[in-house]
Amino acid sequence: MRTHYCGAVGAPLIGQVVTVAGWAQRRRDHGGVIFVDLRDRAGLLQVVFDPDLPTMFATAERVRNEYVLKVTGLVRARPAGTANANLKSGQVELLAQRLEILNRCEPLPFQLDEHVGEEVRLRYRYLDLRREEMRERLLLRHRITRAMRQFLDDAGFIDIETPMLSKATPEGARDYLVPSRTHAGKFFALPQSPQIYKQLLMIAGFDRYYQIVRCFRDEDLRADRQPEFTQLDIETSFLDEHQIQEIMEALIVALFKRVLDVDLPQPLPRISYKEAIRRYGSDKPDLRIPLELVDVADLVAGCDFKVFAGPAADSQGRVTALCVPRGGKLSRKEIDDYTAFVARYGAKGLAYVKVNEVAKGREGLQSPILKFLSEPAIAGILARTGSKDGDLIFFGADTAKVVSDALGALRVKVGQDLKLDEAGWRPLWVVDFPMFEWDGDAKRWMAMHHPFTSPANLDPAVLAASPGQALARAYDMVLNGSEIGGGSVRIHSQELQSAVFELLGISAEEARLKFGFLLDALKMGAPPHGGIAFGLDRLAMLMAGADSIRDVIAFPKTQTAACLMMDAPTEVSEAQLKELHIRVRAPVKVD
Ligand code: AMO
Ligand code: AMP
Repeated sequence: MRTHYCGAVGAPLIGQVVTVAGWAQRRRDHGGVIFVDLRDRAGLLQVVFDPDLPTMFATAERVRNEYVLKVTGLVRARPAGTANANLKSGQVELLAQRLEILNRCEPLPFQLDEHVGEEVRLRYRYLDLRREEMRERLLLRHRITRAMRQFLDDAGFIDIETPMLSKATPEGARDYLVPSRTHAGKFFALPQSPQIYKQLLMIAGFDRYYQIVRCFRDEDLRADRQPEFTQLDIETSFLDEHQIQEIMEALIVALFKRVLDVDLPQPLPRISYKEAIRRYGSDKPDLRIPLELVDVADLVAGCDFKVFAGPAADSQGRVTALCVPRGGKLSRKEIDDYTAFVARYGAKGLAYVKVNEVAKGREGLQSPILKFLSEPAIAGILARTGSKDGDLIFFGADTAKVVSDALGALRVKVGQDLKLDEAGWRPLWVVDFPMFEWDGDAKRWMAMHHPFTSPANLDPAVLAASPGQALARAYDMVLNGSEIGGGSVRIHSQELQSAVFELLGISAEEARLKFGFLLDALKMGAPPHGGIAFGLDRLAMLMAGADSIRDVIAFPKTQTAACLMMDAPTEVSEAQLKELHIRVRAPVKVD
């Protein structure tokens, strides 16, 4: 139908006759001449309709926004002074010779250049995707997956598909279930990840696998979480964690180079989970923010301020300081707002000290808690935090978890609010994760990564003796405060896998029922293996500079896991339910 994309018509084609097709983004009548900006996926082209050709001109007068047109015409340079440097085709215009209206368009529910709420955008996603910003994001996502495939193909990885109708895998979230018609009362689970399949592919001998694959998790949604999301899923055999990390690092470095022409540092910095929590209060630290938590429990132990002395004396407690450069200018209201902010993470308060003049010691400080602190404590806090005149020091004192969560989040918030964060890309590996975390509600150990992750110490007896001390051979890749990937070396011995299941409170019987096939497979020549999965949507979001992963997904779900465009989920017919052996209870009201 056409010879060129609109956006691809440029100066080299001047003097040629071309045919283009696309959408009329804007029509302007300029005293006898009609201009139409014709748009296709490559960009815009200005088309000029001259009254010299009256039939064609009459048709052009009927063109409205978003009509679908086919135009044949002569490419010519734009008159001097009318070139548009913002357009690829901004040097030229098309002098129309033939016009065909391929389809009309009713008035749109919103103008494409109008700022509208996300609900409207999601309801009419096919219109929203016509906007340049969204088009560019999806094209970027395509370039990302292409670069990933290129790299992995060159590195000898094989793309293998795994089932969607599957069995629950313990990735930690709730499962999406699919009822079986042929097996009454039984359900498939949509995979939370292809974790077990990829391990079985290693046992089958494929050595290097990858897949760009959809995963399903019924969990509480946030800006960086969707109920169905995409992973770049990878597994390898006969490599240790350092070798796996080296390849994965090379993949991400190549990706940024090819797609954004950005040079990431190599090797990536590595810090342990413990150090990340200590310095940043988070296992996904945003290294662009040049602030760190500084522990001061030893300095305030035994002081008169119970809020500090209590946690300082408690082995599960933490007392930490966060020095904010030039924070002395924060108003009372701003400090109150930060106090409310940390309360969301369970903090019961947010003590602070304003540092007016370091040299004056106590006299140079301003704070409601000053009277409780001894001279050595004050001197120690100032020295350890490296405070300067005009700074402000925030304090957190509570259980280690509350303090790390609260001050870790505050670090990022204050850093961004005061524009202390540096531009650019700060990737890192977080390693040496604990194997287990204690679930106080369920009163049992939970796998921090997943139950197939290898402990660093392979002796089941050592593991059972002190599960809380055990380290995992797990690693996360973190970029600008986002966990973009996570993986581990896996258990490849049936005995160790059974021991870990037992520690997780999964009985031998339950393990056989749920994972019998894996335990059997581990006995039949399982090679040492390990891998990783990257969150493609999160990576694309970061690389696109978008605020939400919904902005890099063509048809995302809302925060309540619904599709506004198709209106899904929906009720189904009684006949369908009957076939599936399902009776729906009266809807339970959830508030
Ligand atoms: P994990 O659960 O850490 O590991 O997931 C890997 C990566 O997937 C992304 N991610 C998500 N992205 C969007 N929405 C979600 N709901 C969501 N959940 C996770 C994150 C995360 O780092 N099978 C293991 C991988 C392995 O061990 O090889 C797994 O799924 O970026
Ligand atoms: P109070 O003694 O409750 O008036 O608190 C004195 C100061 O300590 C206030 O600035 C509170 O915000 C702060 N504060 C109270 N509890 C904590 C806590 N757990 N961690 C840090 N600061 C706290």
